[in-house]
Formats: sequence, C-alpha cells, structure tokens
Amino acid sequence: MSLHGRDLISIRDLSLEEIEEVLAASRKMIPYAEGSKVTHPLADKIVAMAFFEPSTRTRLSFEAAVQRLGGTCITIADASVTSMRKGESLHDSIRMLSSYADAIVIRHPNEGSARLAARASDRPVINAGDGAGQHPTQTLLDLATMHEAFETLRGLRVVLLGDLKYGRTVHSLAHALTLFGCELVLCAPPSLGLPDEYRSRLEHLGGKLTVEPDLGRAIRDADVLYVTRIQKERFGDEAEYRKVAGSYRVDATVLKEAKPRLAVMHPLPRAGEIAPEVDETPHALYFRQAFLAVPVRMALLDAIVGGAKKGG
Ligand code: CP
Repeated sequence: MSLHGRDLISIRDLSLEEIEEVLAASRKMIPYAEGSKVTHPLADKIVAMAFFEPSTRTRLSFEAAVQRLGGTCITIADASVTSMRKGESLHDSIRMLSSYADAIVIRHPNEGSARLAARASDRPVINAGDGAGQHPTQTLLDLATMHEAFETLRGLRVVLLGDLKYGRTVHSLAHALTLFGCELVLCAPPSLGLPDEYRSRLEHLGGKLTVEPDLGRAIRDADVLYVTRIQKERFGDEAEYRKVAGSYRVDATVLKEAKPRLAVMHPLPRAGEIAPEVDETPHALYFRQAFLAVPVRMALLDAIVGGAKKGG
C-alpha cells in the first residue's frame, strides 16, 4: 500500500483509492483483531501515543492495534504529568518523541496541532483528533462500519446529526462520504451547523447536501443516522452550551419514522443523545463501530509503520 512512511493528518490526505485499500485491508484484519489469528508485522516497532486530551476508544484501540500487530507502545495519556507542565513546547516534545518511536499518534485540543507535530517529527504522525479540526482514523472506521452493514458506500443517504460545528468526526466523515457519492442530510441546532469552510469544500467536490433541522423528517429515507455529542469542551461560554444541551435525542419513538435497516452510528462517547433502549434494536451499530476501530487501525498502522522513515 502506498501509505508507507506517510503522515495522516486530514482525511483529505487520502485519495478515494487509498481509502478503499485501507478498508479492504481492514476487513482482512478482523480475525487478527479478534485474536483468532496472529500476525506480527510490527514486531520490532515502537509506536508513541501522545494524548494531550481525554480519550477512551481512540487511544486504547490504537494500543490494542499495535499490540495485536506485535509492536510496543510508549504512551502519554495525561499531559499534566509530562514536562509540558514545565513549559516544554509541543514542537520539542514531539521532536524528542520521534527519536524514541517509529510513529506517533497524537490527540491534542488545538486545531492544527497534528500538522505542527508532523513538521516536528521525522517519523510518521497520525492525527487522532485535533480540537474541532479532523479525526481521520475515526472516519476510516466509520466507513468500515457502513460498508459492513450495506456492502457498499456508494449512494448511501447519511444524516449527520448534532454538533456539526465543533464535531471533528463529521468534518472528516462528510468529506469521505462525498468522495463515495453519498447524499448528506445535515441536521443540527441552528447555532451548531456545519461551518461554511467545510460546506464550500463539499460543494466544490460536487457534494449532495440538504439541510433538514427536523430529525423526524431527516431520518425518513435515510440509510445511516450518524449521531454526535455536543462538544461541550469546545464552547467558550457555558451559557451558549446550555442553550443547545439536550436539544435532540434518538429514542424508540424517533426510530418509528425510520427504515427498518436504518443504521444508527455514533463515534462515542454519548452523553444522552441516544437513549439506552436503542442499544437493543437492530439499528444500533455504535458498539460494533467501536470494535472495528481495532482492525481498521491495525490495517493503517501496518501500512504506514511497517518499514521506513517518513517519506521512505
Ligand atoms: N470516538 C472517539 O474519538 O472516542 P474517544 O474520545 O473515547 O477516543
């Protein structure tokens, strides 16, 4: 695969063909991710996890992926116990880390931080979420989940629900879905719509976009309902958050309007946007989605890390 030694900062760093290659490789990785088969292509590799913002799924699924591939992790899980507390810059921290590891996975609260890290590192850098910017590896596992459910991505009608302003998962996903010719229905509280910058890019790509603020109407005829949490931590003003908190919730009543095969997805964590009663319905794909993080990240790490330095 052509990803060898490359950074992955934005989903725009990947072509449609490269995304399809990662998805195909991910499907083959499922038995290895489950532990029923063994493969160790990263046996002599170290991958650094540099997480400067909380994470459960992304960090642990990356660590599981490295270990399932026979590699080793070194991890920053809490920036407050690093020398950044003594004033060390992100640049210096990453430059140093790149001399300890064969690749760096970074999560940071500031948009653009992963790009900065890639400039500081002579090893490949993978963006695991930069503020309200991008979350490209989440997109790959989101696509893998949709592909598993529908056996294709082409032409799906996908509702993006919730915080489209600050939600980095939708910023990345909307781009990839547009590459696959999906129809996007944007359903958000008025103050949390998709920023113009993203809308313009999607329109430039020929994206099929509809805005439908009413959830009941939005999900009629939808194949996928992609639910997101309101990103409370990105609001400068708590009062602004309170105005929109709890403004949408997917429950059994809402789903009565849906197609029987509607797939309900969520990058998780959820904070009340999906009622627990949905978990037991055939619509609920979000826990399978969380598992697919492992084979997808295994395929990606195998492609990027299995060998040379950046650009090698
Ligand atoms: N989906 C996701 O990014 O989850 P975490 O914040 O737990 O890593």
